[in-house]
Amino acid sequence: VKTEGSIQDLPAVWMEGSDVVMIEQRKLPGVFELLRATTTDEVALSIRDMAVRGAPSIGATAAYGMAQAQMLGEDLDTAAEKLKATRPTAFDLFYAVDLMQKLARTGGDLAEASRSYADNLTARCRRIGEHGEKLIRDGARILTHCNAGALATLDHGTALAPIREAHARGKGIFVFADETRPRMQGARLTVWELMQEDIPHALIADNAAGHFMQRGEIDMVITGADRVTLAGDAANKIGTYEKAVLARENAIPFYVAVPVSTIDFSMEDWRDIPIEERGEDEVLSVWGKRLSPEGARARNPAFDVTPAKYITGIITEEGVFKPEEIGGLKDRLGTL
Ligand code: MRU
Repeated sequence: VKTEGSIQDLPAVWMEGSDVVMIEQRKLPGVFELLRATTTDEVALSIRDMAVRGAPSIGATAAYGMAQAQMLGEDLDTAAEKLKATRPTAFDLFYAVDLMQKLARTGGDLAEASRSYADNLTARCRRIGEHGEKLIRDGARILTHCNAGALATLDHGTALAPIREAHARGKGIFVFADETRPRMQGARLTVWELMQEDIPHALIADNAAGHFMQRGEIDMVITGADRVTLAGDAANKIGTYEKAVLARENAIPFYVAVPVSTIDFSMEDWRDIPIEERGEDEVLSVWGKRLSPEGARARNPAFDVTPAKYITGIITEEGVFKPEEIGGLKDRLGTL
């Protein structure tokens, strides 16, 4: 389905009947297209191949995938297994599938449950924006990495939610967006989202952030996360860790913004977080164009972990917390 559109008109993913419909993120910003997944295999493929991406959007897509399986009378354990085998780092995926499975076991209607999961997530991201906005001073210059915007979370974003809110309140902010090799989420998606709301920004090469920090041109960093541990360590897009270390070196506050569905309260040691390693081609080629010589080899970890000691605060729907406080929030943060 080809159509015109923007992320302001539509969520990243939704359901129509038993179809899971999403904005095809691999084609943005050049082509705005919707992708319709009609089977569990298609939903799983859309997550694995990153037609839909960003931990909270992946979680919502998987919740819809479980609802689809229930509507089509498929075996829910098989569907859960297929969906969970797609992207190992994004905790929201496991959170959403387990929640849907639990509800189904007690006779729950997953069409209803997945819709309320999505509505709830959207409301939580809005609250992340409201809490995080208070940390942003007038005229702040903010660095973000990857895309933790509406595309990654259905609406508003996590890292981009406070940025949107600060801009809406007239704070005169400026955003530095890392291009985010190898999948270019910053160059393709974050900049696209910022442009739709006229938020002043500059796209920078992944290796440029240290330069701007050293020259006093970045006041704070806000990123999303794919999984936060009990100790407040945060796995996020590859390259986040080095930005956090650079921020510490330059005395710049470093914030991580997440909904509760990204916090893995069972994960004590960050070394146990499964880090997705994607195909070599993503590194050997630049957006489909091969640059490295034939026969060259590559490694492609999609995420790294920023230890809690580099994180100034974690922005959640319930407020801003120190990393060491996150473990104690299990009950307070509630469930989606
Ligand atoms: O590989 P991606 O594009 O799914 O990675 C996305 C990120 O790293 C985001 O920062 C993270 O999922 C948080 S999204 C609100």
